[in-house]
Amino acid sequence: MAATTDPHVNYETPASGGSALAAEKVLVLDFGSQFAQLIARRVRDEHVYCEIVRHDLTADRIAELAPRGIILSGGPSSVYEAGAPRCDPKIFELGIPVLGICYGMQLACEALGGRVESHTVREYGRAHCEVVDAGDLFRDVQPQTEVWMSHGDQVTQVAEDFSPLAKTSTCPFAAVRHNRLPVYGLQFHPEVTHTVEGKTILGNFLREVCKTTGQWRLGDFADETIAAVRERVGTSRVICGLSGGVDSAVVAALLAKAIGPQLTCILVDNGLLRKDEATAVVREFTEHFKADLHVVDAEERFLAKLAGVTEPQTKRKIIGGEFIECFKQEAAKVTDARFLAQGTLYPDVIESGGSPDGPAASIKLHHNVGGLPEELGFELIEPLRDLFKDEVRRLGLQLGLPEEIVWRHPFPGPGLAVRCLGEVTAEKCRTLREADAIVVGEIKAAGLYRQTSQAFAVLLPVQSVGVMGDGRTYENALAVRCVNTDDFMTADWSHLPHDLLSRISTRVINEVKGVNRVVYDISSKPPATIEWE
Ligand code: XMP
Repeated sequence: MAATTDPHVNYETPASGGSALAAEKVLVLDFGSQFAQLIARRVRDEHVYCEIVRHDLTADRIAELAPRGIILSGGPSSVYEAGAPRCDPKIFELGIPVLGICYGMQLACEALGGRVESHTVREYGRAHCEVVDAGDLFRDVQPQTEVWMSHGDQVTQVAEDFSPLAKTSTCPFAAVRHNRLPVYGLQFHPEVTHTVEGKTILGNFLREVCKTTGQWRLGDFADETIAAVRERVGTSRVICGLSGGVDSAVVAALLAKAIGPQLTCILVDNGLLRKDEATAVVREFTEHFKADLHVVDAEERFLAKLAGVTEPQTKRKIIGGEFIECFKQEAAKVTDARFLAQGTLYPDVIESGGSPDGPAASIKLHHNVGGLPEELGFELIEPLRDLFKDEVRRLGLQLGLPEEIVWRHPFPGPGLAVRCLGEVTAEKCRTLREADAIVVGEIKAAGLYRQTSQAFAVLLPVQSVGVMGDGRTYENALAVRCVNTDDFMTADWSHLPHDLLSRISTRVINEVKGVNRVVYDISSKPPATIEWE
């Protein structure tokens, strides 16, 4: 989608759009680093608003955006390769402080007269770093400190204008600064927690070098967003889709605070939700909001469309299409609606290149079925499009949502359909729902729910022999999937205690009709995915 031409998206309303929140902004120029988002989050943790932008933004455009600082991210390329991504060299002359990290440092040093070469060995992991000039960037950092390296190239020679600030045994320029320009470089990654004093170093860059005062607060964000929504919506009505997930709950909470009775929420119960989920959403909603709620009972419609379908992507398409139909029909009953509110988050915006200055590359495959088409004819309100997931959670708590909603594990749009391998039937969904409730219930009872990122049951299309009492059984196998992850793009299987797994297995086999065997999934992502379909 060409973001700038999308008439439904108001790019002027995000927090950065000239409000007080943007008064102190730092831009991260993204050179393809897996850590670009982490850098932005770390900057926000220091209460400075931060956005990730394309690496090739012109110096003129950057001057217009008027950030207090610019961070050049790392990246997988080599600066001496043809076609390597570069920034506009004029940005170094804007007088705006620049911090280059890893590839970003190499780029800055090369652009200002240094040399970058491939190192004999790729340096990856912890390294001991000696600070040779504490100055502003290393203020309050121990003279010997542990840092995290991940590079094949390094700066071997700097121009005369540069001074080294830190070194390691293999890297003479682990940190540098320019003597006249406010340009700094770090060969290591201050944004990862393995760099023990990374937070101090980034904080120094923000406070000592960029002279930010750290005014950005999520609370202010909520107040400003509520005010902005109120102004934009006026006396019109807004429709908001509820899914039971944290994002839509926070959107609903914000809107309820902003426009109360002008909000209508729609929950499509597709029959593929977890046990008692629709009831819980309705209960939580009515307890917390005074807004109008429509629940569409669409189980039969969805299951009829899914009959005989076994291919996972076809299931997804059918469910996505049916969801839009149901939503459309229900929305048509709301006569005076002009806006549609969605829980789009910042990572969705940057990963789809959906912001005019956002990085163009699409990194993640999007499989959200919640995206509603423009043909619905509403103007979009996306109050969370500047926030990361953990910020959304904190905002949810600030808005008074219960922990149960705020910390709920993510649940895929196609729901149980992608956890019922093969054809989806009402009977299989019932079985899966019961087993899943036991899995999640036991993990919660063991106090491990918050420590795991996603935990669920998968009904396998495999039957195996068992004995129950004196009889032989021939029933389904069930897999338990439980993962730990920060970003859901890579994940490790959760090393749950054996007694917990044992309780889950015993209870599922005893209590869930049709299951006589439980297996635990010990595959990491990659190469396995989190969902089985
Ligand atoms: P995978 O299985 O790709 O899952 O490792 C990564 C994350 O995405 C969720 N997921 C989906 N979410 N619609 C969604 O809204 C989908 O079709 C879908 N497929 C996977 C999955 O639950 C995990 O959190």
